[in-house]
Amino acid sequence: MSEHFDVHGGARLVGEVEVVGAKNSVLKLMAAALLAEGTTTITNCPQILDVPLMADVLRSVGCEVAIAGDTVTITTPSELSHHADSSAMGKLRASVCVLGPLVGRLKRAVVALPGGDAIGSRPLDMHQNGLRKLGATSTIEHGCVVAKADGLHGAQIWLDFPSVGATENILMAAVLAEGTTVIDNAAREPEISDICTMLIEMGAKIEGAGTSTLTVHGVDRLNPTEHQVIGDRIVGATWAFAAAMTRGDLTVRGVNPHHLDLVLEKLRLAGAEVEAFDGEGFRVVQADRPVSVDFVTLPYPGFATDLQPFAVALSAVSDGTSMITENVYEARFRFIEEMVRLGADARTDGHHAVVRGVAALSSAPVWASDIRAGAGLVLAGLCADGITEVWDVFHIDRGYPYFVENLNRLGARIDRVTTEPERS
Ligand code: UD1
Repeated sequence: MSEHFDVHGGARLVGEVEVVGAKNSVLKLMAAALLAEGTTTITNCPQILDVPLMADVLRSVGCEVAIAGDTVTITTPSELSHHADSSAMGKLRASVCVLGPLVGRLKRAVVALPGGDAIGSRPLDMHQNGLRKLGATSTIEHGCVVAKADGLHGAQIWLDFPSVGATENILMAAVLAEGTTVIDNAAREPEISDICTMLIEMGAKIEGAGTSTLTVHGVDRLNPTEHQVIGDRIVGATWAFAAAMTRGDLTVRGVNPHHLDLVLEKLRLAGAEVEAFDGEGFRVVQADRPVSVDFVTLPYPGFATDLQPFAVALSAVSDGTSMITENVYEARFRFIEEMVRLGADARTDGHHAVVRGVAALSSAPVWASDIRAGAGLVLAGLCADGITEVWDVFHIDRGYPYFVENLNRLGARIDRVTTEPERS
């Protein structure tokens, strides 16, 4: 069976939408549960495909995992396997985040190389170098990352780039190492702060959460906890762009607007009226055609690379010309080929794209290449003349809970269509 969305153009989105927990947080928090024997409870989890996949990864090392609505309960046994080889490993990037906790707790790990979005080269050198600094050996063997240590000791670690995944893996190994670890040029994403909060609740000693220097004083053991996932700023921003692109009026709740300061400022520059509700949400109202603004992707607090497709899609229907610079994942500009099918006037040169806004897009069949590109195509389809078929929608289901249901409630018309494969 294959599924696609029929997206009817000409929608104006109006109303209120609730954002649940962040995909890029919950999956790492689930991995952190490996650090403590006993039952950890995580609430406000999004109902997306990646959560049961991560549950399978944890089961493969011996955990019991139950998912009930927005609550995930993980029971970690005293004897864990060091070998994470579930077939789910290859389906999501976050699976690699079991590496740090397994090395921290067991001093060894064999972790199948992760999958995830095809958005460009995703090496693990910084993850491995960090673990080596803590005293482990790390190699890639037969499609797995293999790490071993007699014991882990604190170290000074400088990251070449503030990698989210490397910061998380090193952090989760260092919390159980002997002595003090300093991670410099650490990632500052809100999801890193969320993991730090949970680890501190579990008994870890961490200073500097949310800054580029994390100091970790190793402890002997951690205890299970109950933790609520922070709201998904990328999903929240998707709704903000949806309001701007459809000249709509959306109130978004469940996400901290300060995690989106730069995004909301860009939308103000594009002509939107934006109101932030402290700590809990925001409203975006776009009365006229948006005007073009430039975007540059960078690690947080810069403009997130995950939002680049929405920046391109907004620019495609704005008045004027935008320059969009991609500094994190080079292959993300593949999305532009699909936008061109929809009539966008866009071209790339290296890691820059120039997008000249057109008055209207024109429907066509398009293919989602990753989660965010898929959602970007749906928003573009809402601004196109006619019915746009968006294919490979399983990508969208990995990251957006009830996306079509919410869009239809807010004024869109999108049909999920299941087709039988043709017999040859
Ligand atoms: C996470 C997010 C992803 C987001 C990205 C950047 C998850 C599951 N995914 O991915 O949605 O787009 O952050 O915000 O949380 N790099 C290296 N060597 C390494 C590690 C990374 O060269 O060892 C490079 C990557 O190729 C990339 C850059 O560093 O160019 C950033 O990657 P990183 O921050 O690690 O992204 P992920 O954690 O994989």
